[in-house]
Parts: sequence; structure tokens; C-alpha cells
Amino acid sequence: MNIVMRKLYLRTFGCQMNEYDSARIVDLLTDDGEIVLTERADEADIILFNTCSVREKAQEKVFHDLGRVRALKTAKPDMIIGVGGCVASQEGEAIVKRAPYVDIVFGPQTLHHLPELIAARRQTGKPQVDIRFPEIEKFDHLPPPRVEGVSAFVSIMEGCGKYCTYCIVPYTRGKEISRPFESVLLEVADLADQGVKEITLLGQNVNAYRGQKEDGGLMDLAELLAYLSEVPGIERLRFTTSHPCEMSPALIEAFARLPKLVSHLHLPVQSGSDRVLAAMKRGYTVLEYKSIIRKLRRARPNLSITSDFIVGFPGETDDDFAATLKLVEDARFDGAFNFIYSERPGTPAANLTNIVPRDVQQARFEALQSLLDAYYQSYSAAMVDTVQRVLVTGPAAKNGAEWQARTDNNRVVNFAGAKDLIGQYVNVRVTRAFAHSLRGEWVDAS
Ligand code: SAH
Ligand code: SF4
Ligand code: F3S
Repeated sequence: MNIVMRKLYLRTFGCQMNEYDSARIVDLLTDDGEIVLTERADEADIILFNTCSVREKAQEKVFHDLGRVRALKTAKPDMIIGVGGCVASQEGEAIVKRAPYVDIVFGPQTLHHLPELIAARRQTGKPQVDIRFPEIEKFDHLPPPRVEGVSAFVSIMEGCGKYCTYCIVPYTRGKEISRPFESVLLEVADLADQGVKEITLLGQNVNAYRGQKEDGGLMDLAELLAYLSEVPGIERLRFTTSHPCEMSPALIEAFARLPKLVSHLHLPVQSGSDRVLAAMKRGYTVLEYKSIIRKLRRARPNLSITSDFIVGFPGETDDDFAATLKLVEDARFDGAFNFIYSERPGTPAANLTNIVPRDVQQARFEALQSLLDAYYQSYSAAMVDTVQRVLVTGPAAKNGAEWQARTDNNRVVNFAGAKDLIGQYVNVRVTRAFAHSLRGEWVDAS
């Protein structure tokens, strides 16, 4: 192929799975050394958007951004514009209809076809759309990840089979497929060789992992974590996002057994009302959820638990919402993502008619947010005077002479310390808690 194209501009929206996919796209397209990444759309020859459709706002953002790069293409007709990710998966051909200057539409599971799609677009002069969910694993067709830094994501499964009534993900990402154990292990070992110390395992329903073993059996997430704990160089393990229904006894037990598993778990609950949970088809009751987190805290007493909430789901009453606030108090979440319900076309909830008025949604959103913020702050305050083992991620944002690090529960802590601590785990005593960060002092390297 005669490659005239040189520079790739890639924008990523949505979840960490999209971030992982984007990193793989960069690896794939820059592998032969003929294409380099640029931060500037106006000097790019290939512009790709890796998109998200989980809420309406995220989806509309894509068309807004496409409108902006359209002018660039007028000036540079050879430019390739591609749309990937969940909007692509959902809209397919419709994207080319709405934005005819788009050259390529690819899905989360066809991104490994990008080089062929680009070539076919150039040969035929026609837009190329490939949003299939092929049975074969994209992971087998991608170069090994290249990383900078000490923390890396590893996608271990694709898709979601839960079909919560409000959610678009099962339609955009397809059914659940786990990567074979060996493929995951090889990737983690390769990352460890490149100096990575912290791995975050990714999946929309990551604790439903069932990876094929060499002997033909299936491995669950608890067993996978135990194996990955043994990989030399790997010091910390995280996984996200978990579904409460897949929080097996073995996985809960892993928090007691595996010291490399961090003391943090993101466990979306969505609502504190059984009526709403049933309408969402979440598959658990509030009592069951609370029982899971009680067991988790028994296994790991200092476990920080964060969550996701949707407020203003169709039919949500004042009493339902009050139950959500009550759950936040009972569960003592260490913060949570809070979303106003967004109707997604094609999902079962989109047919519900008992819509909650916008101003009521907004008021509930704000009330929940301030309660969540209060708990977050109280956890931050409780961290003052404790010693935390933190991963140093780089120079502090405000004072380049200082360091910035991350705690287990994802807080930024800034502290003064000796040189070249980047990538190390060090002990830091927290001295002050601010709204969005902590201040600390270096105790020793460990
Ligand atoms: N698989 C994960 C996360 C899915 S998307 C899980 O089940 O928890 C991340 C979050 O977006 C969800 O947890 C939910 O809180 C929110 N979300 C998903 N669909 C939504 C919608 N239609 N409107 C508002 N928020 C939504
Ligand atoms: Fe969506 Fe539910 Fe699957 Fe999460 S578990 S991705 S909310 S369908
Ligand atoms: Fe968005 Fe798709 Fe992730 S809808 S949240 S990018 S799975």
C-alpha cells in the first residue's frame, strides 16, 4: 500500500474500555512507523473519533465534533475521517447518511480491520462501514500493547449480557465474550516487562469473566486475580466495572486473600429503591446489595466502595428517591458517579411513559450529589494522619517541584520528596484534605 498519510488524530469519549481500544488503535496504526500521532486535528491526515452513546449528550457530542472537522476535510480532500466505538456500532450506515464526509465507520470489535478499511476507502472511493461483532477475538489481531508509565489497562472481556432496561451497551458492544486466560496472562506479563506495576482489568461486567483455560476449563475473575498476583513486577491489581449479581463468594474472598488487590471497589447500584431496581432489571434488591458490601467489608475492613446512580428513571417517586438517599447513608459510599436518566432509543425503558419532569430530575440530582460529596469529604478527612501507600504518577500539577500520586481509593495526593520517584510506590502521610485532592509528606520508599 502506498501510504501518503502521515498523521493520526484520535479523540476518545466514554469509558475506560474505549480508552483501552483507542490505545490499541494507536498501536495498530503506528506499528509500521509510517503514521504518527498528533494532538492537532488541523494537521492530521486521519481523524478518528472513538465514541460513546451511553447518554444522549455523549452521542450528540460526536456529531458536533464531526461538523468541526468537516471544514478541515474541505481543505484537504485526501483526509480520512473515521467514527468508531459505540455510536458507530449503534448508528452504522446512518452516520454516513447524516455526515457524508465520513469515510469509515468501525465498531468496538472491528477496530483491528482499520488498516484494510482505510485501504478500501482509498481504492474504492466509497465510505466503508464494518460494525460486525465477529466471533473471532480482535485481541488476536492486534500488536502487543506499548505503554509508558507504570499503570495500564487490560480489557479482559467484551460486551455485556445484562440488558438493564435503560442501557445501550449490550446493543453497542454485543454479547459477553471473555478473553482466554493465556491471552490475558501474556499481555500482563508483557506489560510487566515494560515496567508496569499496576494493572486495571476492564470489562463492562468484568466480574462475569469466564476465560478459557488451556485445559479447556473456565477461569473466573477470582482465579485470574490470583494468577496475576504471581506475575513478577505486578504490585497492584484493580478491576472495573463490577455487577453486584456477579460478586461471587470467591471474588469477595479474594479481597481477604490477595494483598495485591487494592482496597477499592467500584460497584454500581443505580438506585436505593427495590421498585426502581426491578424496573431497571438490575437483578438484585437493596438488601442483597447491602449484604454484599457487608461481606466485602468483612473480607477487607478498610475497603473503599464507590458506585454509580441514575436519578429520575421513569416512574421514580419521591419515596423511591428518598430510599436512594437512605442507601447512600447506610452504605457510606466513598463517592459515586451520579447521572440523570437519559432515554436511549431502542432500549426497553424508552417505551416507559411515566417520565420524571426535568426540574424534578435536576433537583434530585443535586440533592444526591451533595450527599455523595459530603461522604467523599468525610472519607478524605478521615485519611488525614494516616499513612497511605501511593503510586507516584508524575510531577504535581501546581508545583512542578513536588510529586503527585494516587491512593488506593483514587485520590490525588501532592507531596514534596526526593527526585525520581515516578512509578514508585511510596508511603505518604496525609496531612490535609482539600475538596479534590490531599496533601501529604513523604515517609519512605517502599
Ligand atoms: N457496566 C457498568 C457500567 C455501565 S455504563 C454497570 O453496569 O455498572 C456506566 C454508568 O452509566 C452506569 O452504571 C449507569 O449509572 C450510567 N448509565 C447507563 N445508561 C444510562 C442512561 N441511559 N442514562 C443515564 N445513565 C446511564
Ligand atoms: Fe449496561 Fe447493565 Fe450491562 Fe452495565 S450491566 S453495561 S448498566 S446493561
Ligand atoms: Fe460509552 Fe460504549 Fe463505554 S456507550 S460507556 S463507550 S461501552
